[in-house]
Amino acid sequence: IGRTVHFYESVSSTQKLAKEFALNGAKHGTLVVSDEQTEGRGRLVRQWYSPKGTGLWMSIIVRPEIPIQKTPQLTLLTAVAVIQAIEATTGLHPTIKWPNDILINGRKVCGILTEMQAEENRVQSVIIGIGVNVNQNKADFPEELQTIATSLKIEADKTVSRTKLLQNICYQLEQLLNEYLHTGFKPIKQLWESYANSIGKQITARTAKGSYTGFAIGINDEGVLLLKQASGEVMEIYSADIDLP
Ligand code: BTN
Repeated sequence: IGRTVHFYESVSSTQKLAKEFALNGAKHGTLVVSDEQTEGRGRLVRQWYSPKGTGLWMSIIVRPEIPIQKTPQLTLLTAVAVIQAIEATTGLHPTIKWPNDILINGRKVCGILTEMQAEENRVQSVIIGIGVNVNQNKADFPEELQTIATSLKIEADKTVSRTKLLQNICYQLEQLLNEYLHTGFKPIKQLWESYANSIGKQITARTAKGSYTGFAIGINDEGVLLLKQASGEVMEIYSADIDLP
């Protein structure tokens, strides 16, 4: 991972660019990184605030030989890799908020977006987009983000090297991806659950159909959240906002 690097000072979105590179045959592990994004994208057609000089905005093209239905596992794997890289770079201990937000002290420090290109039920490429708030000060965030977002600098109380973090993310991703391709998803899932802030807790999941309270017992192999209700019935949560007590 990261043996071919396309670096830019400013782009619309590294995700968009990486998709074009992938369609043009870019190799497994190709990295696209930019100092600034003018149209950074988040999940669910949200925007991703990507100012110049203070964040790590990157997209990685991977070409694993896995069936389409297993690609959500790569999103979970990436969260584990980013957490381990943040731990190695800063000594901070982030947690995961299902489905895939990385938090420190309850505020979001990193978001992950994975998108797949497939042909006849075969994965051609997966674009893994990672956005980390690295050296922003609190006042740098737009007001609406100040209570929900944070940066590594705010949490560690010192400036953090984006280069070191980038190297560590590439290294951890490569390690975990190899482990995954050799031994399967189980060890990754266990790591993911150990970092997740909601597993083993009473939570409320706010879904489009309504709110459900129960005990979060874990995730399944598709990354679906398993919620045990008072009745004993286990509910599968595909999409929701999670409230912790
Ligand atoms: C989310 O939490 O909604 C996911 C955010 C993903 C942001 C990253 S930054 C690099 C890459 N390029 C984009 O436009 N988005 C992803």
